[in-house]
Amino acid sequence: MTHPPSPYLVPGFYDRALAEGRHRDIVGGRWEETGRLQLSLLTAHGMQPRHRLLDIGAGSLRLGCKAVPYLDPGHYHATDASRALMLRGRAVELPDPDRLPEAHLIEDAAFAFPGLPPHVDYLIAFGLFTHLPPGDTALALERIAQRWPGPRVFLFTVFLAPEGQESASLRQPDGVVTHPDRPPWHLTEASLSAMATAAGLTLTRQPDRLPRGQVLFLA
Ligand SMILES: C[S@@+](CC[C@H](N)C(=O)[O-])C[C@H]1O[C@@H](n2cnc3c(N)ncnc32)[C@H](O)[C@@H]1O
Repeated sequence: MTHPPSPYLVPGFYDRALAEGRHRDIVGGRWEETGRLQLSLLTAHGMQPRHRLLDIGAGSLRLGCKAVPYLDPGHYHATDASRALMLRGRAVELPDPDRLPEAHLIEDAAFAFPGLPPHVDYLIAFGLFTHLPPGDTALALERIAQRWPGPRVFLFTVFLAPEGQESASLRQPDGVVTHPDRPPWHLTEASLSAMATAAGLTLTRQPDRLPRGQVLFLA
C-alpha cells in the first residue's frame, strides 16, 4: 500500500475541507488550547507586541487569531502551502481582520519565503515538520537560517523517536502513532541535530509538554 507523503498533498484536499467548513479540523483541532499554548510559548521566550512574528505553516491561523490581537497591527506574517486556508482563518477567526493585511499571508510550500520582511524577531513552525519528510525539514531549516540569520528566536516542533527505534512506527506519549516513512513523521534527536548543524543552527530542546507528544526546540 502506498501513502501520500502528506495528507495536505492529496489533490483537492484544501478545497474540499474549506467547502465543508473544516478549517479548524484540518490543522489538528484543539483550537483554543493550541493557539493559547503557542502564544504563551512565544511570550515566555520574550515576545512583546512591538516584535515582528513569522508563523511558518500557519494553517487557518490557530495561533494568528491570538497573536494578531496581541501584536502591534501589521506585525504578524504567515506562510502556508494554502493561502486560501490562511484567508479563511483571517476572515472568520480574527476579532479584527484589519490588523492583519492580506498581503502578509503568503502561499509558500517550498520555503522560498517570497515577499517577507528582511527582519523578523520571532519565527514559529508548530506542527509543520511533523508533516514533512526529513529532507524537506532539512531544507526548511537551511532556508530559514539563511534568510533570517538573527538575532531572532525560532521555535519549532517535531516528533522524536529514541535512538535505535526510529525505523519502526512508534506510539508517542499521548497516543498518536508516528512513522519513519510517512506522516506524522518522527526522527531521532541526533538526526535533527545534524540537520540543524548543517544549516548553521544550534538547537536547545525545551521541556514543555505539548499536544500529541510533540517536542519543542529553540534554534
Ligand atoms: C498541523 S497544521 C499546523 C498549522 C499551524 N501551525 C497551527 O498550529 O495551527 C500543518 C500546516 O502545515 C501546512 N503545510 C504542509 N506542508 C507545508 C509546506 N511544505 N510548506 C508550508 N506549509 C505546509 C498545512 O497546510 C497546514 O496548515
